Amino acid sequence: MKADDFNMFQSLLKQRSGLVLSRDKAYLLESRLMPVARKWSLRGLDELAQAVRTKKDERLVKDITEAMTTNESSFFRDTKPFEQFRTFTLPALLKGRTANRKIRIWSAACSSGQEPYSLSMLLKEEGAKLSGWSIEIVATDISSEILAKAKAGVYTQFEVQRGLPITHLVKYFRQRSDKWELTPDIRSMVTFREFNLLEDLRPLGQFDVIFCRNVLIYFDQPTKTRVLEGMSRLLASDGVLFLGGAETVLGITDKFKPVDGQRGVYQLSGGAGTATTPVRPTSTGFSAGLRSVATG
Ligand SMILES: C[S@@+](CC[C@H](N)C(=O)[O-])C[C@H]1O[C@@H](n2cnc3c(N)ncnc32)[C@H](O)[C@@H]1O
Repeated sequence: MKADDFNMFQSLLKQRSGLVLSRDKAYLLESRLMPVARKWSLRGLDELAQAVRTKKDERLVKDITEAMTTNESSFFRDTKPFEQFRTFTLPALLKGRTANRKIRIWSAACSSGQEPYSLSMLLKEEGAKLSGWSIEIVATDISSEILAKAKAGVYTQFEVQRGLPITHLVKYFRQRSDKWELTPDIRSMVTFREFNLLEDLRPLGQFDVIFCRNVLIYFDQPTKTRVLEGMSRLLASDGVLFLGGAETVLGITDKFKPVDGQRGVYQLSGGAGTATTPVRPTSTGFSAGLRSVATG
């Protein structure tokens, strides 16, 4: 690939999605953008680069941006964060939210949906404890293509074999030929929305818990800082942020600090500790998808 073309794709991706692509990852451009070139009836990346420069077509730029995302995910990925959520975050929220009995959770780069659906199943397992509670799970991603898969809630045998307890497969999935489809009650607990983390986050409203896992790794430091500081403004004063195993706030922002003894879990530096404040402002803006998981 010509240096000019590489530089053009590199700065386009940085600007559109935050993705930082080093020169040694040029092969990723080749493998992921060839299908885009074919879709647009172009003969290769030279022509694709030329088309970006001349056409100024947003749909083409979107196709390129989406094709370059890494959508790797799995149910209950890394196990530990979901255990921490179940044994530490959720009980604290149930104690701290008795006044309004509402909890809002954001899966901030949800990919094909395994992360928010793992949370749905986990909450469903809590059963009677959540009777009378409204729990909203908002799941967002930049890629409309991966969101379509997430919304469908249909997974291959390989996908359900990774991280999903067999008991959950039996309880929450139905077999459809060689695929597995999540039951409507689990699917309906999640509201999906296309959303770019580089945008103003405020229209999403306030959250008690943010899962932002395995996406910051693709950004450079100033972008990580900007996204994390945006999230700090959305998090309830006693809320918590979960990051991926290779991610941290340390050296990136002082708006968050690690929760003692909870690796990968962060709270606001100037906050009220974790989920102990009984009353907080209600969410704003994006609340149409409010769902109750209460089973009565
Ligand atoms: C590796 S997946 C992580 C999925 C899930 N959080 C997990 O840990 O399994 C990263 C996701 O981030 C999304 N993504 C990348 N850049 C983004 C951005 N600027 N805004 C929103 N989502 C983005 C990608 O589309 C991809 O689905």
